[in-house]
Amino acid sequence: MTLLAAEDIVSGYGKVEILHEVSVHVKEEEMVSIIGPNGSGKSTLMKTIFGMVEAWEGRVDLLEESITGVPPHKVVRKGICYVPQERNVFPSLTVEENLDMGAFIRKDDYSGELERVYEIFPALLEKKKQTVGNLSGGQQQMVAMGAAMMLSPRILLLDEPTAGLAPNLAKMILNKIKEINDTGVAILIVEQNAKEALKLSSRGYVLAMGKNKFTGNSNDLLENAEVEKLYLGG
Ligand SMILES: Nc1ncnc2c1ncn2[C@@H]1O[C@H](COP(=O)(O)OP(=O)(O)OP(=O)(O)O)[C@@H](O)[C@H]1O
Ligand SMILES: [Mg+2]
Repeated sequence: MTLLAAEDIVSGYGKVEILHEVSVHVKEEEMVSIIGPNGSGKSTLMKTIFGMVEAWEGRVDLLEESITGVPPHKVVRKGICYVPQERNVFPSLTVEENLDMGAFIRKDDYSGELERVYEIFPALLEKKKQTVGNLSGGQQQMVAMGAAMMLSPRILLLDEPTAGLAPNLAKMILNKIKEINDTGVAILIVEQNAKEALKLSSRGYVLAMGKNKFTGNSNDLLENAEVEKLYLGG
């Protein structure tokens, strides 16, 4: 069943249209990659889905219910969490405090979620009293994703979670994301490490200049000569 559907999204900033009728779908428990060159609108698409940027046209549905125009603080309550590309942690707070912040709208007991985050990211358990600003880039990304997991989302929107990380560390983080996906959380991920992300995903979308350029099963995209040459650094 389709969990998230963004249909024919038109959006932008001020008067500048960035997305020109872009569509993406994510099924329940699916992992889907969005790839494309710098400035192609990947982050804008994530922000539009999450209600941070207004959709001028088109619609966003979660489980066939419209969430078009629903603001972020309400979207999170419906089971969508978003980890932005930048400024996604509170650097002056500890790991533990960041995870608590992730859960701040919860009134119930979230010790189970906390346990699950530390299970997937054991490095964070060791550092739970440390200030996040002092952690490595990879660990800061783990904190950002961990905080998003605190609300037990149905789907995580991840915008370049491996940005700036060395290749082996990026691979490790992507494998962790797959682990989160294997627990039943759907993932919509924007990645520069396009090949690695596609290999872990069932499907992918290539965005170029604010439009859907290619869409397909990951294997088909990985084997497509044009996609390979233009977007996978082939
Ligand atoms: N807040 C903003 N105000 C005005 N223009 C913006 C804003 N954010 C992004 N843009 C413009 O929108 C276009 C798409 O940007 P976006 O960040 O969505 O691309 P992207 O695919 O995520 O790129 P990258 O790979 O560099 O992260 C770019 O031309 C960018 O300059
Ligand atoms: Mg971006």
